[in-house]
Amino acid sequence: MKKILLVGSGAREHVIAETLKRSKEDVSIIAYGRSKNPGILKLATRYELGPVDKFEDLKKLAVEEKPDFAFIGPDNPIADGAADALLDLEIHSVAPLQTVARLESSKSFTRDLLAKYNIPGNPKFKVFFDEDNIREFIENDLGGEYVVKADGLMGGKGVKVSGEHLASIEEGVKYAADCLHKTGRVVIEEKFVGQEFSLMCFCDGENIAPMPAVQDHKRAFDGDKGPNTGGMGSYSDASHSLPFLKPGDIDAAIDITKQTTLALFEETGVLFKGIMYGGFIVTKNGVKLIEYNARFGDPEVMNVLPILKTDFVEICEAIIKGNLNKLKVEFENKATVCKYIVPEGYPENPVKGAKIEVGNVPEGVKMYYSSVDQKEGGIYMSSSRAVAFVGIADTIHEAEKSAAGALASISGPVFYRTDIGTDALIQQRIEMMKKIRS
Ligand code: GLY
Repeated sequence: MKKILLVGSGAREHVIAETLKRSKEDVSIIAYGRSKNPGILKLATRYELGPVDKFEDLKKLAVEEKPDFAFIGPDNPIADGAADALLDLEIHSVAPLQTVARLESSKSFTRDLLAKYNIPGNPKFKVFFDEDNIREFIENDLGGEYVVKADGLMGGKGVKVSGEHLASIEEGVKYAADCLHKTGRVVIEEKFVGQEFSLMCFCDGENIAPMPAVQDHKRAFDGDKGPNTGGMGSYSDASHSLPFLKPGDIDAAIDITKQTTLALFEETGVLFKGIMYGGFIVTKNGVKLIEYNARFGDPEVMNVLPILKTDFVEICEAIIKGNLNKLKVEFENKATVCKYIVPEGYPENPVKGAKIEVGNVPEGVKMYYSSVDQKEGGIYMSSSRAVAFVGIADTIHEAEKSAAGALASISGPVFYRTDIGTDALIQQRIEMMKKIRS
């Protein structure tokens, strides 16, 4: 019997729980999170509610349960040192310690690390500690095309891009000044043009094992319109590459992550044990790094874990022991499409606390609960992404049809994007990359 403490209560943790339970080992899940996820509730032996930004309750639960290891899902507790707090109790986590979790929580740390160790993929960038010369850098060095990154976890809202969120250099300078007032540091960097993709790797601090590449869709509405969200849906291909990538692109992303893993240890003396998730972009000059995250992507995790063939508990133990190189990590050659259902008005003015009804989900489609709470009388949304459906098939086309066929099983004040994973949207991306590369 393996007892695993699972921190977090979203769709990411629902699919983590499901995949741990698929192990050949007998697995008991002790769940800890801010709300009662109906999916995790069905899989867990014990489910405790509590804060994930303070660790007293979590530590109390860990002392009582003495788990074999912990899996920490969300970014905030990882950045705040949940793995360090549990290690004080001699409980190891599949999640990095705070010092190496800076790979996600400090944008300047990561840019400086790649620059210092000559790792490819960095843009032209500069870290500013005061407002002097920001305008000159944007105008003269970046030619007016720029990205401003707040130096901390901002729930995906800290990064602003010229031409998308910032209409002029004036606005960029002003936003950079706001960031400086909040955190004392801001990163200004070159804007890349191309197609983004996520490449997540299991990482034991020395060795990495890549997962299939995934493309997420950040904008709220069809046609990539509307405000940025946590991610409205995502797809992956049976080849484990993506239709707009060329041979060698995935290898380039893997190489950047491998070099970053080794540099991180050399720089800090601490092994990164967990999920190293690179947000990459393929450009006319090859593969570049947008950012690293220190956890599974959401929704991307729902594209990869359901097709994981290798025993997930064995992978977690190999991450902790540092012998990931001894394990063959394999995924089925299947395509997947994930579509999120979100509350009306999401992300800017979402309806809060509305009830949803879950009808019959078509056979073969996976359903994962996200920001919903199981209460007496039913399932209630919070104000964020509510339920995800994942279609799995031999082609993206079939996987899309499968996921789309399940959306009507949720009723309530909700909406979703209809275009994620469709032939038309994927073709647009292939055409865009052809044009950029020509
Ligand atoms: N897919 C976006 C994120 O997990 O941050």
